[in-house]
Amino acid sequence: MNNGLPRPVTAVILVAAGSGERLGYGMPKAAVPLGGEPILMHALRGVVASGVCSQVCVVLPADTDGLQGPLEEFRQELADGGPVLTLVGGGATRAESVRAGIEGLIEGIEAVLVHDAARALTPEYVFHRVVDSLAAGAVAVIPAVPVVDTVKTVTRTSGDDSAIAPELVTGTAPREELRSVQTPQGFRLSTLLQAHQSASRLDEAQAAAVTDDAMLVELLGVPVHAVHGSTQSLKITTPLDLIIAEGLLEGPLGIRWVEG
Ligand code: CTP
Ligand code: MG
Repeated sequence: MNNGLPRPVTAVILVAAGSGERLGYGMPKAAVPLGGEPILMHALRGVVASGVCSQVCVVLPADTDGLQGPLEEFRQELADGGPVLTLVGGGATRAESVRAGIEGLIEGIEAVLVHDAARALTPEYVFHRVVDSLAAGAVAVIPAVPVVDTVKTVTRTSGDDSAIAPELVTGTAPREELRSVQTPQGFRLSTLLQAHQSASRLDEAQAAAVTDDAMLVELLGVPVHAVHGSTQSLKITTPLDLIIAEGLLEGPLGIRWVEG
C-alpha cells in the first residue's frame, strides 16, 4: 500500500454535522442505523482502521442523540497509540463544518483528509492512495471514479418550446474526461487553510455552488491531483443508497469482495 515515501503527520476531519434531509429519517444522517450501528460509527471505524492518521476530528450535528454513547465506547476501545479523537460541533453548511474541524486540529498536523461520514463504507485502500499521493508531493488530491452515464448540458425551454419538453439539450460532455468525485480529499494543511480563507471572499451564490474542498483549491489556481476511488465509497444520500449500503454489509458476497 505504502509507496515508501515518508508520510506527512495527518489528521482526518470527519464531517458528520448534516441534517440528512434527503434520507428523510427525521434525525441527523450520522445517527441513522446501518447494520445496527449509526452511520457515523461505520465511518469512524473505517478511518481508524486505515491507520493513516494521528488525529480524527469528528464534526457533529447539534442533536447528538444516539451518538454520544457509541462515541464514548469507541474512545475507550481506542488502544494507546491510536489516533487522538476530537469532537467538535458543526455549522450550517458543509464548508462551515470543515472550518469547525480545522479549528479542532492539534499542533503538529501537516496534512488533512476531509472525509464525509456519509461515505461510511470507504475502503481502507482509498485512504492509503490519497495519503501516498500527498507523500509523493501532491498538495491537494481527491479520489475519483469514471462517470458511467453519458452526461449532457441542458437549458430550460421557454415559450412554445416549453410545451414540447421542459429542457433542451445544449451539448454532450466528453465522458472520458469526466470523473465522479469522492472523499477523503487530502490537502497539505497550509493549502486547506488558504482555500477556506479565500472562501470568505465568495458571495452567497458562489459559496452555495462550492460542493467540495477541492473546488476551493482549484479557485486558488493550485493543482489538484486525482487518484482512483472506489464504487464502494458511495455517499449515503437517499433511501436507495441506504439499501445498497445495507446490501454491501450483509449481502451474499460480503463487503470485502466488492472491488473497483
Ligand atoms: N455536512 C456537515 N455539515 C453540514 C452539512 C453537511 O458536516 N452543515 C456533512 C454531512 O454530515 C455529510 C457530508 O457533509 O457527511 C456530505 O453532506 P450530505 O451528504 O449532503 O449530507 P447532509 O447534508 O446531512 O444531507 P442532506 O443534504 O440530504 O440534508
Ligand atoms: Mg447536504
